[in-house]
Amino acid sequence: MAAFNASGADCIIAVGGGSAIDTAKAIGIIINNPEFADVRSLEGVAPTKKHAVFTIAVPTTAGTAAEVTINYVITDVEKKRKFVCVDTNDIPEIAVVDPDMMASMPKGLTAATGMDALTHAIEGYITKGACAISDMFHLEAIRLISTHLRGAVANTDEGREGMALGQYIAGMGFSNVGLGIVHSMAHGLSALYDTPHGVACAIILPTGLEYNAPAAGKRYRAVGRAMGVDGIDAMSDEEAAQAAIAAVKKLSADVGIPADLKGILKEEDVQFLSESAFADACCPGNPRDTSVEEIAALYRGLM
Ligand SMILES: NC(=O)c1ccc[n+]([C@@H]2O[C@H](COP(=O)([O-])OP(=O)(O)OC[C@H]3O[C@@H](n4cnc5c(N)ncnc54)[C@H](O)[C@@H]3O)[C@@H](O)[C@H]2O)c1
Ligand SMILES: [Fe+2]
Repeated sequence: MAAFNASGADCIIAVGGGSAIDTAKAIGIIINNPEFADVRSLEGVAPTKKHAVFTIAVPTTAGTAAEVTINYVITDVEKKRKFVCVDTNDIPEIAVVDPDMMASMPKGLTAATGMDALTHAIEGYITKGACAISDMFHLEAIRLISTHLRGAVANTDEGREGMALGQYIAGMGFSNVGLGIVHSMAHGLSALYDTPHGVACAIILPTGLEYNAPAAGKRYRAVGRAMGVDGIDAMSDEEAAQAAIAAVKKLSADVGIPADLKGILKEEDVQFLSESAFADACCPGNPRDTSVEEIAALYRGLM
C-alpha cells in the first residue's frame, strides 16, 4: 500500500495466483476506503462506500477465480486463521484470463488449483442460495473441469484452455451465491499448517458431500451427469449420489491429491479448527445446518 501511494500510480495490475490477486483487492479497497485501514475490519460483508482502485487482474493459476469474484481471503498470522472478505466493490474492472499465463504451473499446483475450482463449482451448486442462473454456471464449470483437469495436469493446450475457462465460469457462479463447509474447513488448515488451499479443499470435498447428502443429495445426480458418470440416469437417487462422490474421489486421486489428512491434521488442533470453520463466512451457505461438534467429527473422520 505504501508502495502504491509513493508511486503515484492510478491503477493496480495484479499478476499471479489467488494470493496475489486477493492481496491486490485488499490494497485497492483500503486505499479508497481508508477508514478500513485494519484489514481485519473488512471480514465478512464489508460496508465500504467506494470501489477499489481500478484493477486489472491476470490470473496465473486456474482455480480461485479471484479475478471475477466479490471475495478476497486474508491470512491473520497472529490469530492463525484465514478470513473471507465479501465486497462487490472489490471486483477487478478487467480480467485477462489467458491459459498461456498458467502453462508454467507444475503438476501439483495445477492439480490443487483445479480441484479448488471443482470445489467452488460443486459447493456453489449445492449451497443454500443456489438459483437457476448460478446452476447454469456451476454445471458447465463441473463439466469443463472434469473434462480438462487431467489434460491440464499433463500440460496440454486443450487442458489449459478448458481449465482457464472452467475455473472462471465457476467464479461467475459461486461469487453470486456462496459456498459451504468444505471451504470453511479448508481455510483453517491453510492458516495452521500451510496446506495449499486447493489440496485442503480436494481432501475435504468427498467428506463434505457425504455429510451434505441428507440436505442436497438429490442435486448430486446432476453433478455426476456433468462429470460424465456412465448410466447415472438409470440409478436410484442414492446410487447416483454415491456415483457422483466416487467420480470426485477418482478425479482427485488421478491428479495425485491425497485422500485424507493423515500427517497434516493434529488432534490438539481439532477444536480450534472446528470453531474457526463454524465462524467462517462460507459456513452459513452450507446446505445442511451444522455445528462445531459435527465439524469436529468430520475433521476426525479424515485423520
Ligand atoms: N478470491 C476468491 O474468490 C478466492 C477463491 C478461492 C480461494 N482464494 C484464495 O486464493 C489463495 C490461493 O490461491 P492459488 O490457489 O491461486 O495459489 P497462490 O496464489 O497461493 O499460489 C501458490 C504458489 O504458486 C505460485 N504460482 C502461481 N502461479 C504460478 C505459475 N503460473 N507457475 C508457477 N508457479 C506459480 C505462487 O507464486 C505461489 O508460490 C488462497 O488464499 C485462497 O484462500 C480466493
Ligand atoms: Fe477456493
